[in-house]
Amino acid sequence: MRKDSPRIAVFGATGLVGREILAILESRRLPLAGLRVLASSRSQGTSLEFSGRSLPVEDVASADLRGIDLAFLATSSSMSLDLAPRLLEAGATVIDSSSAFRHEPDVPLVIPEINGELLDESPRLVSSPNCSTSIALMAVDYIRRAAGIRRMTVCTYQAVSGAGAAAVAELEQQARDFSAGRPIEPRHFPSPCLFNLFPHESPIDPDGENQEEAKIRAESRKIWSDPMLAVAATCVRVPTRRAHAEAINLTLERSLSVAEARSLVATAPGVRLFDLESGSRGPEPRDAEGRDEVLVGRVRADLSQPPGRGLWLFVVADQIRKGAALNAVQIAERLAGSDATPRGLVGRWSGPAMVKPSRS
Ligand SMILES: NC(=O)c1ccc[n+]([C@@H]2O[C@H](COP(=O)([O-])OP(=O)(O)OC[C@H]3O[C@@H](n4cnc5c(N)ncnc54)[C@H](OP(=O)(O)O)[C@@H]3O)[C@@H](O)[C@H]2O)c1
Repeated sequence: MRKDSPRIAVFGATGLVGREILAILESRRLPLAGLRVLASSRSQGTSLEFSGRSLPVEDVASADLRGIDLAFLATSSSMSLDLAPRLLEAGATVIDSSSAFRHEPDVPLVIPEINGELLDESPRLVSSPNCSTSIALMAVDYIRRAAGIRRMTVCTYQAVSGAGAAAVAELEQQARDFSAGRPIEPRHFPSPCLFNLFPHESPIDPDGENQEEAKIRAESRKIWSDPMLAVAATCVRVPTRRAHAEAINLTLERSLSVAEARSLVATAPGVRLFDLESGSRGPEPRDAEGRDEVLVGRVRADLSQPPGRGLWLFVVADQIRKGAALNAVQIAERLAGSDATPRGLVGRWSGPAMVKPSRS
């Protein structure tokens, strides 16, 4: 990859993750020699704003893939499976936010704060983890380093934006329909979002586990290089728009006091111990919207386990940022050799159209 000033392309640039990648690239000012934005034919004729310039959205299907040093794939897994080999062939380095390559043994699955050293070998294809996995591992990695984890149980409360722009539009439409006295009709999700919650919508395997739950176990094991680690998850979609919450229960290898655990959380990069803030009962999704840090609160002993061996944490993070776009940009920065630290609050999110497309 041309390191000093790469020519960058964002595929899926009109989606939630793609738009956020653009916003983060703009705010962190990674030097770049060119920027292309690509999406489906539906977005052809639109443009996206970047640093005061208007970038025409190219149709992926007819785009020339040559001349790209660094490609961000914020596309579906099937699209990434098709695009990544072609981009690699054309000479690009590829950072993929989908699940397409996460389990390939020769493709690093990277959270820079945890296993960023895998990027030092300059891999040409890098996977960014599932959002729920990233958030959980960011929250507990320093505890794991200090005391070891024998077992991790994660219960998620996942925002609808984890399923893309159409899912956010569906929740907002349901709110409008309810206010107008119209019936609520789920389209994107199997059940209504409004005034409801339901098990994660991904396919369920014969053992009864859905794919999101399986991803948390498999990806945690790969990122921590611990193939036998006991990880169990229950993943639930809740009617928040942005920022996932997770209740995490740990069984530790070695004894750790709650005070030590809190201090480890407070020290971890990209993590903020939230419940020290005055009057807070713990982080809420609205606290995390538009923020880079993973917020960790309610660090407490699990009194059902031997003293010092069991912990509960309640974790909230903006899954479009650290769970996808920010992590991808951090990977790019490390590959490019630029040393950027995580930033704090960048402003509250007001809906899916953070960078509004306009007809050009
Ligand atoms: N949302 C999250 O919190 C999150 C977190 C972690 C990982 N991810 C992963 O990131 C990826 C993107 O997710 P997202 O939430 O940004 O989805 P999204 O909002 O639905 O955006 C999808 C993007 O893909 C483009 N696209 C769809 N069909 C296409 C086609 N046939 N040809 C070319 N482009 C096409 C869309 O373009 P148009 O606008 O033109 O349709 C849009 O730019 C997914 O793999 C997802 O699993 C998402």
